[in-house]
Amino acid sequence: MHPSGTTSPRDLLLQATDRMSPVRALSPERYAETHRAYESFSNQRSMLRAWMIANVPGFLPPGDDRPFRVLGVGVGDGSVDVPLAERLIVDRMQVDYHAVEPHSPSLERCLERMAGVPGSRLTVAGSPTDLAGYTGAGPFDLVHFVHSLYYVPDPGAAIDHAVCLLRPGGRLIALISPLEPLSLLSSLLAPQPDHPHWFADAIDRALTSRGLVVDRSMIDSRLDLTSLREDPAGVGEQVLDFLLQCRAADLPSDVREAVHDYLADIALPGDPDAVPHPLQAFVATAPGASH
Ligand SMILES: C[S@@+](CC[C@H](N)C(=O)[O-])C[C@H]1O[C@@H](n2cnc3c(N)ncnc32)[C@H](O)[C@@H]1O
Repeated sequence: MHPSGTTSPRDLLLQATDRMSPVRALSPERYAETHRAYESFSNQRSMLRAWMIANVPGFLPPGDDRPFRVLGVGVGDGSVDVPLAERLIVDRMQVDYHAVEPHSPSLERCLERMAGVPGSRLTVAGSPTDLAGYTGAGPFDLVHFVHSLYYVPDPGAAIDHAVCLLRPGGRLIALISPLEPLSLLSSLLAPQPDHPHWFADAIDRALTSRGLVVDRSMIDSRLDLTSLREDPAGVGEQVLDFLLQCRAADLPSDVREAVHDYLADIALPGDPDAVPHPLQAFVATAPGASH
């Protein structure tokens, strides 16, 4: 119930989606295109890059001058990994970066951008696969999943695999959205036939049930939805498609209306065109050495 005593926009959304037939998932091409549009309207990108750059260099073992080894899982086009690699070579003589990404065009773009990093202190390898298909060897100082654990069939298995690839005391980073408020939309609408929708709570359980030492923090960002009002058939549609993880145009009109009412209901106080876009950060330390 809403404070006004009427059915809340959240409940109306739950009711409308409950009556709905399944819709098409985004194609990999539409996913990559809409992801770029979506991220350009959120300050989460810049905040999460800043978070990585502020935290990762602190994981370098002191006084150890071998290459710092990173495995990025689901790196996309490298929009987080390339600035991270650039920052790491400032702190470290040599960085050995492995990128895993099942969508080959995105991996190619990431590798092209990595190749553009000046100097010769960075070595890069890419695998057009997911972590389960990754056959490279550890140990890594860091294995990270930035917005990619939603897509693995079994997050516990992915975490076990990542921990096996870490050196003792190495770090696993998982950045993943909490379910509420914004990701409730994709959890209700995104076709996900193979496995449940994973959000931060599932990853927290998977990490803690393995007895790992975990640090948690929240990156409090915002998503600008002005384009939904100003350009609903253009970039606004791209932003909405990525948010819902399906083609918004395929949805019945009552569901579309419920989505818009829900977005208005969760808008940030004083800014009706922006919604909270939080990101949960987990840093788990592999058992063994202290650093
Ligand atoms: C939201 S994007 C994030 C990309 C990148 N980490 C970033 O933040 O820009 C999720 C990425 O995970 C990839 N992906 C899909 N299934 C995956 C899987 N099973 N394992 C790893 N990555 C996967 C997608 O192809 C996509 O590039």
